[in-house]
Amino acid sequence: MNTGNDYDINNSRNSGEPLIRLENIGMIYKIGDISYEVLKKINLLINKGEFVSVMGASGSGKSTLMNILGCLDKSTSGSYFLEGKDVSGLTSDELAEIRNKKIGFVFQGFNLIQRLSILENVMLPLYYAGLHSKDAEKMAFESLKLVDLFEKGNKFPNQISGGEQQRVAIARAIVNDAPIIMADEPTGNLDSVRGADVMKFFEKINGERGATIILVTHDKNVAGYARRLITVKDGEIV
Ligand SMILES: Nc1ncnc2c1ncn2[C@@H]1O[C@H](COP(=O)(O)OP(=O)(O)OP(=O)(O)O)[C@@H](O)[C@H]1O
Ligand SMILES: [Mg+2]
Repeated sequence: MNTGNDYDINNSRNSGEPLIRLENIGMIYKIGDISYEVLKKINLLINKGEFVSVMGASGSGKSTLMNILGCLDKSTSGSYFLEGKDVSGLTSDELAEIRNKKIGFVFQGFNLIQRLSILENVMLPLYYAGLHSKDAEKMAFESLKLVDLFEKGNKFPNQISGGEQQRVAIARAIVNDAPIIMADEPTGNLDSVRGADVMKFFEKINGERGATIILVTHDKNVAGYARRLITVKDGEIV
């Protein structure tokens, strides 16, 4: 039963419970002798159940920040606490395990495997988690149902539209009940109608599943679906 505590005053799913905390996160890339400071002392708190969009000019550091948040990359300085646990010092294997359990990704280019059916694509994270049984199939169908693609399971990626492909990617991201969904320009390859359609499903998984969503976009309309907007400028949150 929902006690009402899951909702903040803005009526979003923000639980007030910290999920992500960045403390003075910095990222320096070295190319030869030259260092590029791409992120500068980023401090950020995201609560469970929030729907956050990240905007900023090209090259400002959005994807770099997302890659750190998504445990795909490690910062060169600062601390990252995920559910209270410091993950900044973990090995790449340990980070991979966190990704598998906690984070679903949606990318601009959908990243579906062409030779697998829609259903098999959605089942993939479960397969990696060691689940190959009928249970996995059932979970994948549940996910496809959530994005209104229950009937397309037997098709292949090249047999469905771009908007539908991105909805499959969303189904894949949520199939193992990942509490965090990260999306980098998920509507970048879609026209505004398909983009809005995809955004409705992000809203739905935030509202119905309480998933925390962090989404990078260049599009103000897309950012408008979020409850909170973060702007990155020259490697800093402004
Ligand atoms: N692996 C890398 N090595 C060196 N520099 C990098 C690397 N990755 C990113 N950069 C640099 O870091 C800066 C931020 O890149 P990032 O991809 O985070 O920008 P972005 O805000 O996502 O831009 P866009 O909106 O174009 O996707 C850029 O100047 C980029 O050239
Ligand atoms: Mg980027």
